Amino acid sequence: MTRLSELAQFLVKQPKGILAADESNATMDNRLLSIGLDGTEFRRKGWRELIFSTPDLNEYVSGIIMYDETVRQKSQLGQSFVGMLTSFGIVPGVKVDTGTEHLVDSDGEFLTHGLDGLSKRLREYKNFDIQFTKWRSVLNIGPNTPSDDCIRLNANRLSKYASIAQREGFVPIVEPEVLMDGDHSLKKCYEVTDKVLNIVFSELSKENVKLNSMILKPNMILSGRLSDKEDSSEEVAVSTLECLIQNVPKDVPGIAFLSGGQEDSQATRNLFQISRKSREFSTPWELTFSFGRAVLSSALHTWNGNTNFVRNAQDIIINRLRSNSNARVNNPAKI
Ligand code: G3H
Repeated sequence: MTRLSELAQFLVKQPKGILAADESNATMDNRLLSIGLDGTEFRRKGWRELIFSTPDLNEYVSGIIMYDETVRQKSQLGQSFVGMLTSFGIVPGVKVDTGTEHLVDSDGEFLTHGLDGLSKRLREYKNFDIQFTKWRSVLNIGPNTPSDDCIRLNANRLSKYASIAQREGFVPIVEPEVLMDGDHSLKKCYEVTDKVLNIVFSELSKENVKLNSMILKPNMILSGRLSDKEDSSEEVAVSTLECLIQNVPKDVPGIAFLSGGQEDSQATRNLFQISRKSREFSTPWELTFSFGRAVLSSALHTWNGNTNFVRNAQDIIINRLRSNSNARVNNPAKI
């Protein structure tokens, strides 16, 4: 067993999850704007410090994905955020893609960027003591999308990223997200995700990515947000597990789901059912959560930039994390 495969296993081990606090500055500013606050470095830092200093965070979180700006910031007491997390036994990670651009000649599709200079940036992150990385590609379901070109180009970049990350000594989180936006059916989401994962694993194999030293971060299989259909957790769990079994090799140590804009408790219920059903399916991987919004959104609203509400916001974060941790270990009494 290598250092990287051990680290990948540590990150997905029961009962914890990997917290996604890696919104780019632009996305974080939009989140702040949604609660009526200007996006400034001071505010972004205040929000991240609130999250990282949540009491008992390490009981439910194995690693936290940060954004470049946060990696370089310090707490009010002058400790680097990376040092702070490490001292709590939480593994620090960073998002290393540099966002998306429109795919030329496409029907509103996106290609994720960030391969230029990636090795150099990773070496710098090594000096900051960062241990793992994330790259997200986005695929939207529409009448003519995702196109084969968009799927293949994104899968190719995800795989190149994963290969470079491993070569530089980082565990890569590979996140090919099929978006929930749109009015598509659960069946359509299954078909698209099935195709995307199939191509991603074929590209990962071409790039010789070590499957035992990476983590997959997929979407759950769900009907589109604008469809009238409310999927039952049972339907979501069965479809998601069938799709994963079809495509994800057993050497991958763990699958950490994104929440994708699901309502908090919906994401938790679905995770619980996935975990429950995984026994019937005899799945070979750890199944956990790497939620962003489904853990942090309500807390952000409660905080609202006001120091008086820091503890209330932290209580919400820890309750959401505890529920998701219980969901992944399949503890029905406490989700
Ligand atoms: O890139 C997205 C994050 O890694 C997961 O965030 O749970 O809000 O979809 P989410």
